[in-house]
Amino acid sequence: MQEEVEKENIGIFDSGIGGVTVLREIIKILPNENYIYYSDSKNNPYGDKKKEEIIERCEEIFRFLLERNCKAIVIACNTASAVASSYLREKNKNIPIIAIEPAYKMVYDYSYDKETLVMATKGTIESEKFNLLYHKYDNHKTTLLECIGLADVIEEGNEEKIKNYLEKNIGQYKGKVENVVLGCTHYPLIEKEIGQVLGGNVKFFNGASRLSVHLKDVLEESNLISKKQKQGKIEFIDSLGKKEKEERFYKFLEEGKL
Ligand code: DGL
Repeated sequence: MQEEVEKENIGIFDSGIGGVTVLREIIKILPNENYIYYSDSKNNPYGDKKKEEIIERCEEIFRFLLERNCKAIVIACNTASAVASSYLREKNKNIPIIAIEPAYKMVYDYSYDKETLVMATKGTIESEKFNLLYHKYDNHKTTLLECIGLADVIEEGNEEKIKNYLEKNIGQYKGKVENVVLGCTHYPLIEKEIGQVLGGNVKFFNGASRLSVHLKDVLEESNLISKKQKQGKIEFIDSLGKKEKEERFYKFLEEGKL
């Protein structure tokens, strides 16, 4: 009889290294788990891709992570979650799939009456999933901004380009918004830079901490929580295999910012 291999990893993926902002929150409350992080930099950005293409990419990443003994998968990319999570859940009924989404409900819960800017990719903003969320919690003081190319410049890491992008694309909201929803997992890495351009005391909303609590609940309910008493391992895989990506990933994991 074939012995069943114990599934002991949590798979987590994004189109690039942005999902590190989600992993940072997860390991704060689940430090003893082992993680396999997959960064698909060969195919990023996902934000401007067609739904079918994103689904195809996600399916390939799922196959890879499932072969690597994953007991749960975290979609640490708002775009992939928005367009592919229902499909992926339908196709993979035997594994918990936890998906990030823009923290727009948090605005409804904590800061409803304030002018709000939702920053996300084109794919997320145009998706049916996000639109359902948006209309359910609409505070009627919200601007939806498709930040085409922003994840790319963050991925590249050129500070000058990031500054120029922000001034050109969000400069006009300076002093006009109080809530900012960081609806792409790359954006928390430049929270400080966004704050500098928008000025004042803008309040940031990010779905990562809520996701991590949800992940913990799901693992507990399914009896999948690691019983190990020591810190888990984190393995990084990039679809282009670039060493430089790996170094930046671990730097961001430690520091959480550019
Ligand atoms: N980090 C991603 C997200 O949360 C995607 C960025 C991209 O590839 O366009 O939407």
